[in-house]
Amino acid sequence: MTTPFRFPDRFVWGAATAAAQIEGGATADGRGPSIWDDFCRQPGRILSGDTTATACDFYHRWPEDIALMKQIGLHAFRFSVSWSRILPEGTGSINQAGLDFYSRLVDGLLEAGIRPYLTLYHWDLPQALQVRGGWLNREIACHFADYTDRVTSHLGDRVKDWITFNEPQIFIGLGYSEGSHAPGLKLPHLETMRAVHHVNLAHGRAVPIIRQRVKDSQIGFAIATKIGIPAQPDDPACVEAARRLTLEPEWQPDHDLWLDNVWWPEPMIHGRYPDVLGQNLPAFLDALPASDLVEIQQPLDFFGFNYYFGRIVESAVDRPWKVLPERPGEPRTLTGWPLHPEGMYWASRFFHERYRLPLYVFENGLSSMDWVALDGRVHDAQRIDFLTRYLRQLHRAHAEGIPLAGYFHWSLLDNFEWSRGYRERFGLIHVDYATQVRTLKDSARWLSEVIRSNGTFLQP
Ligand code: FCB
Repeated sequence: MTTPFRFPDRFVWGAATAAAQIEGGATADGRGPSIWDDFCRQPGRILSGDTTATACDFYHRWPEDIALMKQIGLHAFRFSVSWSRILPEGTGSINQAGLDFYSRLVDGLLEAGIRPYLTLYHWDLPQALQVRGGWLNREIACHFADYTDRVTSHLGDRVKDWITFNEPQIFIGLGYSEGSHAPGLKLPHLETMRAVHHVNLAHGRAVPIIRQRVKDSQIGFAIATKIGIPAQPDDPACVEAARRLTLEPEWQPDHDLWLDNVWWPEPMIHGRYPDVLGQNLPAFLDALPASDLVEIQQPLDFFGFNYYFGRIVESAVDRPWKVLPERPGEPRTLTGWPLHPEGMYWASRFFHERYRLPLYVFENGLSSMDWVALDGRVHDAQRIDFLTRYLRQLHRAHAEGIPLAGYFHWSLLDNFEWSRGYRERFGLIHVDYATQVRTLKDSARWLSEVIRSNGTFLQP
């Protein structure tokens, strides 16, 4: 008898967003500036000089957007809280109007039968904390704990699912090392690793607060992923090369160190940093209070990852893996990211083997050239094809017994794609930024069928 093509019974189908990318209302009702508001003001930082000022105006239009979520049939909505909307100075006095906004949003979601998944930090640090050193200043861990305390005490009676950090790799890597994201710094490894560590410490301090404040809480994180995909999946040496690329750090002078997965889940889940860190940056470990790793290692309920594309690898005799070059004419999304659906399966498998927690895919999707056609619809056939491929690979992981808790599409709405501004359209819903008119794309209608059938609609 063949097993029916379905996802697990309580599998959560959702869509994801982030405050800075959708809310707008940048100065509304007492909100303070974030590092992204400031970054947008710096000439040449954002494509076309786009800004976060209005975005999708979700701050005012959320009831309409909840109605659209309901129409799609989403079980859950992942959003982030803008820290400077709640605490305009990053610490100190609270902006009640900001908290009330999230409170109404949560009520609206629950009334519509949609489960809120709350990300505490999706990159938009209050500018007031940036001038005090941002993630380079160890005090930030206390400020984050305080912010977590405020948010949980107001929303914890209704929000049960908590994500501490979204993609620390990217906001530290691009923000502190590579310089293309806010706050635009280009620091050496030692400083970058200090920022990494302060994120970990902030996570470690926030988790017990959430546990204490929120009855029946479910807590985890959402990391970006550097995934190895074996070029020859039947060759154990090749699979091992892909596993090592996924789970081990690299240490080369010119390597984007921060991109490696291990800097976050290893201390958060196993309470340790990979040995390579001490070997290469002894000054970092020497300065580390021993109790930090104890604080950072907290029991978690799920392992969340965001997956867009991977790296195709082979085994090699002289090094742990060899990344294959791009194939001529390889399919790519508008962002330029290659199409690598199999990575969905391999990411699930490797993270399950190492961390043994229920897995959520908290982001996956693509930017494509979507516009409203003459018939008034948005025919995003490439998104449907992309999702079919990626979701079938996710199902493959489920069919092998890997525990999957849910899948969140990036994104609900077209939105502000950081330094790439509004040109990139990642949404299930098209947004006309001049009029704020929303149009469900074909993919949104298609996803409704996938959700309704819990995946059977994807059956080859
Ligand atoms: C991820 C981010 C998310 C969005 C997608 C396309 O790296 O977490 O905010 O920009 O990429």
